[in-house]
Amino acid sequence: MPKTSPEIGGMGHSVKRKEDARFIRGKGNYVDDVRLPGMIWLDIVRSPYAHAKINKIDTSKALAIPGVLAVITGQDLAKYNLHWMPTLMSDTQMVLPVEKVMYQAQEVAAVLATDRYVAADGVQAVQVDYEPLPVVVDPIKALEPGAPVLRTDKKDKKDNHIWHWEVGDRAATDKVFNEAEVTVKQDIYLPRIHVSSIETCGCVADFDKVNGKLTVWMTTQAPHAIRTVFALVAGHVGLSEEKIRIISPDIGGGFGGKVPVYPGYVIAVAASVLTGKPVKWIEDRMENLQADSFARDYHISAELASKKDGTLTGLRVKTIADHGYADAAANPSKFPAGLFHICTGSYDFKAAHVEVDGVYTNKPPGGIAYRCSFRVTEAVHAIERMADIMAHELKMDPAEFRLRNFINPEQFPYKSVLGWEYDSGNYGGALRKAMDKIGYAALRQEQGEKRKRGELMGIGISSFTEIVGAGPSKHFDILGIKMFDSAEIRIHPTGKVIARFGTKSQGQGHETTYAQILAEELGIPVNHITVEEGDTDTAPYGLGTYASRSTPTAGAAAAVASRKILDKARKIAAHLLEANEADLDWEPGKFFVRGNPSKAKTIQEIAFAAYTNHPQGMEAGLEAVSYYDPPNLTYPFGSYICVVDVDKGTGEVKIRRFVAVDDCGNIINPMIVEGQIHGGLTMGLAPAMYEEINYDEVGNIQGGSFMDYLLPTAVETPKWETDKTCTPSPHHPLGAKGVGESATVGAPAAIANAVVDALWHLGVRHIDIPITPAKVWKCLREHGVTE
Ligand code: CDP
Repeated sequence: MPKTSPEIGGMGHSVKRKEDARFIRGKGNYVDDVRLPGMIWLDIVRSPYAHAKINKIDTSKALAIPGVLAVITGQDLAKYNLHWMPTLMSDTQMVLPVEKVMYQAQEVAAVLATDRYVAADGVQAVQVDYEPLPVVVDPIKALEPGAPVLRTDKKDKKDNHIWHWEVGDRAATDKVFNEAEVTVKQDIYLPRIHVSSIETCGCVADFDKVNGKLTVWMTTQAPHAIRTVFALVAGHVGLSEEKIRIISPDIGGGFGGKVPVYPGYVIAVAASVLTGKPVKWIEDRMENLQADSFARDYHISAELASKKDGTLTGLRVKTIADHGYADAAANPSKFPAGLFHICTGSYDFKAAHVEVDGVYTNKPPGGIAYRCSFRVTEAVHAIERMADIMAHELKMDPAEFRLRNFINPEQFPYKSVLGWEYDSGNYGGALRKAMDKIGYAALRQEQGEKRKRGELMGIGISSFTEIVGAGPSKHFDILGIKMFDSAEIRIHPTGKVIARFGTKSQGQGHETTYAQILAEELGIPVNHITVEEGDTDTAPYGLGTYASRSTPTAGAAAAVASRKILDKARKIAAHLLEANEADLDWEPGKFFVRGNPSKAKTIQEIAFAAYTNHPQGMEAGLEAVSYYDPPNLTYPFGSYICVVDVDKGTGEVKIRRFVAVDDCGNIINPMIVEGQIHGGLTMGLAPAMYEEINYDEVGNIQGGSFMDYLLPTAVETPKWETDKTCTPSPHHPLGAKGVGESATVGAPAAIANAVVDALWHLGVRHIDIPITPAKVWKCLREHGVTE
């Protein structure tokens, strides 16, 4: 039950999204809506080769086109030492190449023109003489002795290995496996996929030569961090941080893909500085799909050890991570494999050991956290597939197997063998609720009967645990900047509010939910609270929105800053009521004298007094700021159950039902949370059944347009049945956990498990996602189904 009235609209109310008023009227303000006087356009020449030496770039034909103003090459940028830039993982990445290209669709040169179409004509007219080099697309082959060394720019580099990372107790894990009664092993591949946000990336860079100030409107999820990176990269050419303003206006989906700095942004900035004109760069769809950072591409080899009675004892995982030609993953610095070591999942392991090796290949830089808190999807997919494989191997029901191995509610806070401290959870509660909702026992009975008739029906479970809210400053930083986040609240004399945050919504509804947190804490109606994000000149410093971190970090900062305001408001109320501070009680919206509720001052009266009648000696105004450093991450969780029917003739998989029970602790806006889960489930369905980006042996991208990269539409998407349990986070000021990514993380394994469950009795042990009809058809034929 919400504590506040619907008029106040605090936590627990399904307040309609404030931002939708402009979105549904076509009044959103996206980067491509920014048009400045004198603005010119930038378009990019891209490489047709995955690996090639550049012998010569001939720009003469392009420059002859009326309206083409300039062509920028790597040689031009090299004069300012701007042809390479650092990545967020302290690797280096080309802005424009001088010697060679490293993947198909890599930026080769940039054309500036008076019009977007003229710029595109200019791109066609630039002639590049390439000399193809040997291509490495398979990360496993990339590690073999004799493989061509890709990063020849790194003087001492003798191979394609980027880093080795491991965690856990190897000896203890080996011992558990040596003594295990049952072990299972499976290779699992999570292919490259793309976030495919509806708005592609782009920017408008505007360098004002008179005052030396650079303003960049750009599609970034992390404006402050980007400003700092720009200052670090371009400080030597005079761009110091106070002279840089990043504005992230409305964003049409980010999902992790708008965290990195892409070369296009840097070239546009350089072009604006060189020409003194505003420069616009907007990717087209194919550039976005082919050249922006990718997700996944994890080759996982996982092993589980168990007792015969189904008690899990050990987990061992080895992974090859394909990072493309540069490690540009947006991970916290100390975690090259992200938070992959959440792969012990919801289970009480006594021993585990995980190794990950990052590898260079001739592909675009990969490793972004696609709607997932840094490799958590990969981790969940591995453990949830393995749990099902082990349950089937032991001939146990997969639900019963999970219930036997879950970390119990009384074990929280729970320290995992791989080092995480889970804050709270009730995994059995969520699974039982999902089983009740879907009618699990009856479905298993139906499955048994159908199997006798030769029909293929499967039931898949995924009982995932997430880890979100990066993060506590003792462990979490990006390029050394601690991963706190911030809220700054100002109450105007009439009791209305402006609140600014270091995060940046890309569709999640922060303007509404942050206002609800303030309404809850201060008792000021949600409609009287304006939330702003994304302008580095006005918002407090923060690390941005990705990895479901906004609620755990900036949401907490909103509560803490509100409470600072209430501390001052209490003093003002005591002064106005001529009462002792200690004798005042608070209810949302007013302070009153204990035992005498009519003797009260509303927050609006207090706000007015803060500017007109505050106590002598107290500073005027009513405002506060909080830079919140979370003491721990939050651990949302859920149990998903998927029922599929498999067509033996075509291999088509039909999702008949999908029940999702989620737990994100206390909920701010139930409607928004449900929306996040619906969208997330569809973004989990997508890689499970449709999306994949492959490369042929010479590095040609397969899946580089929406003709081959299949996004599910409303037609393919099943009816999601959602429900929830509520296990508050004990350390978050509002008891809330993040939720934005749970469904994307949890859904693929439920679908894959359902398909394999339908086919297990035929001898099928595993199918890699995406589970396409062709793959299933082939698998059925290989296992003797000819019908
Ligand atoms: O960082 P991001 O905003 O993507 O993720 P989040 O913190 O999980 O929040 C996604 C949306 O769900 C935001 O609008 C949150 O305010 C909302 N939310 C909520 O209403 N209650 C929660 N317990 C968690 C998130």
